[in-house]
Amino acid sequence: MKAYVDDDLCIGCGTCPEVCPEVFHMTDDGIAHAINTDIPDDVLGNAKEACESCPVDAIDIDD
Ligand code: F3S
Repeated sequence: MKAYVDDDLCIGCGTCPEVCPEVFHMTDDGIAHAINTDIPDDVLGNAKEACESCPVDAIDIDD
């Protein structure tokens, strides 16, 4: 599974890298980016939690 951040929606709240730093990081332009490789199994739960915690629903996780 992979995670995607919609950079038009992200407001840079910083929650996703706090909840799952293995998958999300903040860029210099103040929005989040996700790793572009598969989410490691051991952090998948945290990645889903980050997705659910985003206040503007900017994160998608798909197969
Ligand atoms: Fe942006 Fe949502 Fe993460 S607003 S910083 S994608 S929690």
